[in-house]
Amino acid sequence: MNITESKFYRDKCFINGEWVGADSGETISVNNPATLKEIGTVPKCGTNETKRAIEAANAAWPEWRAKSARQRSDILRKWFDLMIENKEELAQMMTVEQGKPINESRGEIGYGASFVEWFSEEAKRVYGDTIPDPMTDRRIVVLKQPVGVVASITPWNFPNAMITRKCAPALAVGCPVVIKPASQTPFSALALAVLAEEAGFPKGILNVITGKASEIGDELATNPIVRKLSFTGSTEIGKILLEKCSGTVKKVSMELGGHAPFIVFDDANIDDAVAGAMQSKFRNTGQTCVCANRVYVQEKVYDEFCQKFVEAVSKVKVGDGLDEAVASGPLIDEHSLSKVEEHVQDAVQMGAKVAIGGSRHELGMNFYQPTILTDVTPQAKITSEETFGPVAPVYKFKDEKEVIELANNSPYGLASYFYSRDIGRIWRVAEALEYGMVGVNTGLTSKAEAPFGGIKESGLGREGSKYGIDDFIEIKYVNMCGLDK
Ligand code: SIN
Repeated sequence: MNITESKFYRDKCFINGEWVGADSGETISVNNPATLKEIGTVPKCGTNETKRAIEAANAAWPEWRAKSARQRSDILRKWFDLMIENKEELAQMMTVEQGKPINESRGEIGYGASFVEWFSEEAKRVYGDTIPDPMTDRRIVVLKQPVGVVASITPWNFPNAMITRKCAPALAVGCPVVIKPASQTPFSALALAVLAEEAGFPKGILNVITGKASEIGDELATNPIVRKLSFTGSTEIGKILLEKCSGTVKKVSMELGGHAPFIVFDDANIDDAVAGAMQSKFRNTGQTCVCANRVYVQEKVYDEFCQKFVEAVSKVKVGDGLDEAVASGPLIDEHSLSKVEEHVQDAVQMGAKVAIGGSRHELGMNFYQPTILTDVTPQAKITSEETFGPVAPVYKFKDEKEVIELANNSPYGLASYFYSRDIGRIWRVAEALEYGMVGVNTGLTSKAEAPFGGIKESGLGREGSKYGIDDFIEIKYVNMCGLDK
């Protein structure tokens, strides 16, 4: 697919309803990670263009917040409908710029659109409160109002859904947004802007700016007009942004790194556990924050699980995601590939065995073999650092107490998973795991209806669900007095 021929292809940023280049005229080249060939360019914007986008959003805000919830809901609904109507073309574009298998891209367009649909409905349910006042002539009224200009900094691993998961609730409650997509995957973001324009968002309400990450990020995090910053990315960058946001005391949402434990107890259905591990570990070639990073298997079922897991991995076809038969695409770049390689080599040096895979794929470029390591030791880097690649380290454990300690022994607290058929154990373990999300007998928990988010160094705030709207709202208390006169 030549994405420059797509009706959604734009090589300009979207600021204040106009398609514009960088002031300097400079551009960034975007490559297909499966071929390493250039697929297009986008403007290399910096501080000044970001300031203009923020100011445009702020100027457009009064008109947007003054619309009724129903009016905003209708526009969001139209945006959703357009995404679904154009699912195939958006999915093809995503696979070309991001690399994920085409079926996963189709899934992501549906997943991304589901946040727009969900929040188009939630827009109408931003309820306030009235509270009895201690004095009889008074009432306490609680209003919920939009926070103001929202900045969204989004990652390359889900180029569509991470934008809609942040922007749909913001737009629903009446906030304008400035989106900075990852430089590796700007075209899916710009395609969303094309559809937003068609759906009828007023100019300035949704802005997409591409370019120098540090300059744009700095401006978004420090400009006093921005009242809320929502970021998905690494814990390292999240901490830097948090510090920068403190200068103007912005509201923040942070969806940061994870190191998910995936536990298989000996009472589990092993076939289901293998299917869940495949989904959790190898979705998006292991490049998700919620991927299984440590697979703990109870000793009695360890051999059976490993044998079936290896069998399942041996069937995974690696290649260009546009091929319908491919289930594992390329890694995003050479840097990611080197990290995966380093983690595997280090684990092997520390005593792990390669059950399958274990090296770069014969296709070359950014491809790595889907890999299972067994007998992995606690000292290996992979036990504590996020790999972000198609490598599953498997560990043996004896009992529930031991595995809960092992699972919780991490600064991260995003997703966790376990398989068991024992109802008592299910409650005990679900409550004991120090993670924002727990999948019981499933390897995938992400959906618009559920609160996505982590604890500890995995982040702040929740996205999706009825809770996802709270992060874009300010609570205003009005004391109504003199009601007896
Ligand atoms: C992520 O990896 O950042 C998001 C994954 C998801 O939404 O399932």
